Amino acid sequence: MKQLFRTRTLKHEDYANSGLKRCLSAFDLTLLGIGAIIGTGIFVLTGIAAANQSGPAVVLSFVIAGVACAFAALAYAELAASLGGCGSAYGYSYSAFGEFIAWIIGWTLLLEYGMSVAAVANGWSGYFGNALKSMGLELPMAISTHPENGGIVNLPAALVILALMGMLIVGAKESARLNAVMVGVKLFTIAVFLVAATGHVDPANWSPFMPYGWFTRMEGGETVGILAGASLVFFAYIGFDAVTTAAEEAQNPQRDLPIGILGALAICTVVYIAVSAVLTGVVSYKELGVSSPVAAALLSLGHRWASGLVAVGVIAGLVTVMLVLYYGLTRIIFAMARDGLLPPFFAAINKRTQTPVNTIVVVGLTCALFAGVLPLGKLAELVNIGTLFAFVMVCGGVALLRKTQPHLPRPFKLPWNPLIPVLGALSCGALMAFLPQHTWERFIIWLVAGIVFYFAYSMRHSKLAVPST
Ligand code: ALA
Repeated sequence: MKQLFRTRTLKHEDYANSGLKRCLSAFDLTLLGIGAIIGTGIFVLTGIAAANQSGPAVVLSFVIAGVACAFAALAYAELAASLGGCGSAYGYSYSAFGEFIAWIIGWTLLLEYGMSVAAVANGWSGYFGNALKSMGLELPMAISTHPENGGIVNLPAALVILALMGMLIVGAKESARLNAVMVGVKLFTIAVFLVAATGHVDPANWSPFMPYGWFTRMEGGETVGILAGASLVFFAYIGFDAVTTAAEEAQNPQRDLPIGILGALAICTVVYIAVSAVLTGVVSYKELGVSSPVAAALLSLGHRWASGLVAVGVIAGLVTVMLVLYYGLTRIIFAMARDGLLPPFFAAINKRTQTPVNTIVVVGLTCALFAGVLPLGKLAELVNIGTLFAFVMVCGGVALLRKTQPHLPRPFKLPWNPLIPVLGALSCGALMAFLPQHTWERFIIWLVAGIVFYFAYSMRHSKLAVPST
């Protein structure tokens, strides 16, 4: 029983010789954050949430989800500045709650990141296919969609992941450069949308503002209302946490990780509020439940060229989301394997590229397979519940570590302890409660599988279980 609660606290100095290359600046980290954050959430889910759950008040859903994320991001910033390692919430939980909870969080993060990469690849493939079609190059159905949709394999979704695999093997700095270019393209796209659409805002479209009210649970377990919308558009904010997985590749992690996390989140929150307000102002919320609401809104305003530009922005934008979340996933698996909780094969670093090549290849092949053959729409909801769970635990970790390790150096220290982590845990916990019932059921199945793996393998192979190593 005691093994389950064994803890391990390591600072940034303890990872000086981890084998990964310290090459990322505060600017790189902020761009990595924006790269992971802005994607399907704003380009697709805004419309779905507006049409089905929040109405024009989707802007409030964004504010509510943004506030919950801000509390969680502050908690992440405190822990990321004082604790080392690239395991993110997994590593922080190891210090605060001990090995078993850390394992559960790590296992949850595998679901969050893995599912996100595969789900976003599916969304990307849809946009890519449309772009090819508009150029007169239509892909045969057999190789452009998964079996449940009448195809054989979604080849573009699988291939984009394999291309990113090559990029990540080459190196973190090179990946960060590609990310910076793509982030530029997507921010430009959003600016074009705002400039082209703002003049067409008709306040009549904002009325009724809250057609679905605050929150109702329907008979089948589905949820509607502004709060349900908030737990859906929460997906749009996921990714700032991925910045912490770059801890061992950051040049000055104590200072730069808080800058990267909070800077990226602040910029994206402003962008989201602006885009959702303008989007619901230019067309009726009822018309937004389509796969590309931003492009559709521009088309309905007669801006054909801008609509094409948005498609390019989405194609570039979704690549960075996949790139950074894929990157984050490999670093978390690497950290868990280094601690002995996953097989040592995943902890090997390639001397030449200074990247965890084995992990990158296995993750790439697995995600490519999932993205190629699975319909991931519903499974994407699992991403939210897993992430929210990790956020609650990170908030709890801040409060607990202040008690158990009061003298830990904290270069970024939250004021009024424990107010911010408590508000973060409550608000993220509430967003979990607003998710549909089937999401909870699937999440519990995943957790049970993780618990079985822990007792079958991780508990005995943990580095803390072998005192001589
Ligand atoms: N936040 C990311 C997106 O919206 C996951 O695509």
